[in-house]
Amino acid sequence: MQIDNFKVEEWFNKYEHLAKYDLADTCVDSLSVNELLELPGENFGEIFNKKLNYGAIHGSERLKNGICSLYSNQNRDNITVTHGAIGANQLVMLSVIEPGDKVVSIVPTYQQHYSIPKSFGANVELFFLKEEENWLPNLEKLEQVVSDNTKVICMNNPNNPTGAVISDNMLKEIVKIAQKSNAYILCDEVYRGLNHTGEPFGLSIADIYDKGISTSSMSKTFSLAGLRLGWIAANKEIIDKINHQREYNTISVGILDDYFASIAIENKNTIIRRNIEKLHTGKEILMTWVNNEPNVRCVEPQAGTTAFVGYDLGIKSVDLCKNLQDKTGVMILPGATMELDGYLRIGYGNNFEQLKTALEIFSIYINNCL
Ligand SMILES: Cc1ncc(COP(=O)(O)O)c(C=O)c1O
Repeated sequence: MQIDNFKVEEWFNKYEHLAKYDLADTCVDSLSVNELLELPGENFGEIFNKKLNYGAIHGSERLKNGICSLYSNQNRDNITVTHGAIGANQLVMLSVIEPGDKVVSIVPTYQQHYSIPKSFGANVELFFLKEEENWLPNLEKLEQVVSDNTKVICMNNPNNPTGAVISDNMLKEIVKIAQKSNAYILCDEVYRGLNHTGEPFGLSIADIYDKGISTSSMSKTFSLAGLRLGWIAANKEIIDKINHQREYNTISVGILDDYFASIAIENKNTIIRRNIEKLHTGKEILMTWVNNEPNVRCVEPQAGTTAFVGYDLGIKSVDLCKNLQDKTGVMILPGATMELDGYLRIGYGNNFEQLKTALEIFSIYINNCL
């Protein structure tokens, strides 16, 4: 099966191990095993007696109960556990998309959301978010693009790379648009729980739409990407259909991953408070730099871990990022890897000293090398 190169992942493979200052990362300062073991309410001695069998096939009851607590309207039958959100997205697409289907994918987004449907032979239409609309979908235009034969709308809320959040009301309007063509909405909610102000969790698509499918994971909101644990939440009929595909590619997730994820979710308030505090600090550093650097601009992110910074420097983003990293060791992700040249994705959830220094180095580079 032919599939396009995954540009972001390729960029990481090529440049991450060479970076002195990594501003491309999308996680919030990952938790160590020690930090996880310090979380209260658990006798960790139990680990040593655990038999390393396959465990509960679709996820343990404890884990599924935890996942349900992140939604307002889901029970264990509405959840299946996957190999990260990346595994979740692929399983959903395998289960609902067929050759010839029309898929509308709202971009910029994680490339899975258009390249996988395209590889299945679907007709994929990219619907571009715009900086001047604060990176939020223009609903009138979306309504024109979603037609009677649209099978799936793929979206990502909160959005990577822009950090934009679709409000609860706007999400309900998108559901109305999908309902007209009876389309599924696959909403990648991997950054849900990281709204910077107010309630950290916005509405989930699975809680408000019968054909809404939510994918998420431990990687971003819980700072535990190394567990490689994600999930899908949707109505039982959809989950049954997905589990039918899942038998062929998952069996179960690791029993220790399931266990640690359960504990982390039970401590969600502590972990999320920690992460939002860090994101505030990082965002402040980034936005101060943006406001003082005349060649760049940025719609302030409202959630998540990344900002999409526009620039006016007369150079393609791929060349800019490559030269910057070669000369200075500062790694930034070029917007072109997410289908929008003239932008840079900057992650601000890690190592604030490095973030500050790297942005200073970037300014020196702009002034002296371009
Ligand atoms: C929007 C989005 N979806 C999915 C993923 C994959 O996440 P996971 O680590 O859970 O597989 C990422 C990772 O960066 C992402 O940004």
